[in-house]
Amino acid sequence: MNELAPQQPFRTSQLEENDGPGHNLSDNATMGEIIAARFSRRGFLKGSLAVSAIAATVSPMALMLADDARAADTKSAFSFEEVEAGIDEKHHVAAGYDADVLLRWGDALFPDSPAFDPKNQTPESQARQFGYNNDYVGYIPIDGSSEHGLLVVNHEYTNEHLMFPGIVKVVDGKISVSPADKQRVDIEMAAHGGTVVEIRKTEGKWQVVRDGKLNRRITANTEMQLSGPVAGHDRVKTNADASGRKVFGTINNCSGGVTPWGTYVSGEENVHGYFLGKLPEDSKEAANYKRMGIPEGVYDWGKFHDRFDLSKEPNEANRFGWVVEIDVNDPNSIPKKRTALGRFKHEGADSIVAKDGRVVFYLGDDERFDYVYKFVTAGKFNPDNRAANLDLLDEGTLYVAKFDVDGSLNWLPIVFGQGPLTEANGFHSQADVLIETRRAGDLLGATKMDRPEDIGPNGVNGKVYVMLTNNTKRKDDQVDAVNPRAKNAFGHIVEITEEDGNFAATKGKWEILLKCGDPTVADVGASFSTETTKNGWFGMPDNCAVDAAGRLWVATDGNSPKETGRTDGIWAIDTEGGARATSKLFFRVPVGAEMCGPLVLPDMQSMMVAVQHPGDGGEDWKPFGRPSYYEDLSTRWPDFKDDMPVRPAVVAITKKGGGKIAV
Ligand code: FEO
Ligand code: CA
Ligand code: CA
Ligand code: CA
Repeated sequence: MNELAPQQPFRTSQLEENDGPGHNLSDNATMGEIIAARFSRRGFLKGSLAVSAIAATVSPMALMLADDARAADTKSAFSFEEVEAGIDEKHHVAAGYDADVLLRWGDALFPDSPAFDPKNQTPESQARQFGYNNDYVGYIPIDGSSEHGLLVVNHEYTNEHLMFPGIVKVVDGKISVSPADKQRVDIEMAAHGGTVVEIRKTEGKWQVVRDGKLNRRITANTEMQLSGPVAGHDRVKTNADASGRKVFGTINNCSGGVTPWGTYVSGEENVHGYFLGKLPEDSKEAANYKRMGIPEGVYDWGKFHDRFDLSKEPNEANRFGWVVEIDVNDPNSIPKKRTALGRFKHEGADSIVAKDGRVVFYLGDDERFDYVYKFVTAGKFNPDNRAANLDLLDEGTLYVAKFDVDGSLNWLPIVFGQGPLTEANGFHSQADVLIETRRAGDLLGATKMDRPEDIGPNGVNGKVYVMLTNNTKRKDDQVDAVNPRAKNAFGHIVEITEEDGNFAATKGKWEILLKCGDPTVADVGASFSTETTKNGWFGMPDNCAVDAAGRLWVATDGNSPKETGRTDGIWAIDTEGGARATSKLFFRVPVGAEMCGPLVLPDMQSMMVAVQHPGDGGEDWKPFGRPSYYEDLSTRWPDFKDDMPVRPAVVAITKKGGGKIAV
């Protein structure tokens, strides 16, 4: 409920790291409460010890032996000159590369799009322009090309204090934002959602094709359909929709994916922040909503739109928190909320075709102490018949991960009637189980993780990489093997190996690829390879991408002057051989921004990255040293014009003179 007056500015951290213990109050043991951290044996042998750990605990003789044991070849799979970590108003890319701004908030997407006029923005103009806070970036080739295709981009949320003139007051060094009127709310709603836009590379430079016939804006008002097991259920019926199938809009679209059949899938993440109001006394959704942190009332939308007010539409919040699938081949297609993939705070939805043709989607639930999931389709992917794949996401099995101390992984099926998912526990159907996916995970004994973000399956080495961004609320007695650090401020990356190299397997193994943070500070307990330079380490892994050569690229959220003395960026991380756990900085964002994307095109000659909320903050950056807002910004990236606010944007990176990235 929004009881703040005047309203505080919305920050991503407010939603993602809201105070409190997280919303998982189940008493699942954190893996038997085993305190001993499991050393990554492979990492140990090949020199993945933290520099600090070596200095603090290992004798010089042991160090020499470790060096000997290390594979002679520590050559990185990435070839580029590392960027220097730091903080300023601009973006920086490795020497020899161009990083060109391709699409900014407010840019035209259609021939009739109004010119961007930030002081006179309207909901109608925003709905014809590129949205705010770009997160996931995907590419769907046209005729198999890596130089002509559709770019699909999520617009996760809006920052009013950076977007709108005349709404901020600074009181006692803190920003306060005036309550929104309907016009402002409607602009925000039009700035959410997604973009589908044709792009083409001409003479080495990417350009938007403004009259592309498939160009499309998805917003918080776009008509959508609930599909799969929850469609039509009583718990998703509302006063406005007696069918329980017709929903308007998608919100807080964080990471996502592109399916093997060329559709765009998008995860609804922090949906709790959009609802306000009190549930009616007779509503049965109180416990369900509490587990999702609903309502949080960060936004004022519910003051003007009944569906975001729980007192008026108590079931509406069950219609959000899904993965949405958009058929980009038809700009009038009705996006489908694929309920079979569960309801939680969805991060990415990267997928891969298993050996037997079923398709596997890896899904993170970004909350402290929440879970890692995967969905395996019942049907098989048909590469010769696109239409035959279009409803694959309505049938299949959702699994939640249990990581055991011996390095084994069990994928537990979330199926009504199996194990504890029965009437005795209040579930009457698979729809009930999916609406309360988190509670199903609690009952099954899934492993409580340090905020699962994006998950990247790697078709080249057969592994899967799980980004765990941080969890400062994990206490000493909650430490477990797969989440080995209490007060985990910097996060870590887990590597999964599915049984027999089968992504659809129900068992696997896991180990920690690396623990993030400054490896020169012993207390941090980071574990980058010793080849990693002072620029190469980072904290808070978030989105990730695996390129066509099977190399891992990681984007971060939360590096800052105060936390790590650097901005967020794109880091290239070796996973193989003697270079394993070596990290190098390839691109960094301007002050206040978070790094999203990333995307490496199939020919590996272009990378797209998304700069989210640039200029959001400046207090802890000495050259600025005060709050940043529309009239007084810590950076005016990317235009650097006095009359233009800071603008989230997608940046296209190419090698000067052409060629593959980092090769
Ligand atoms: Fe929107 Fe979990 O990052
Ligand atoms: Ca993310
Ligand atoms: Ca991804
Ligand atoms: Ca994020």
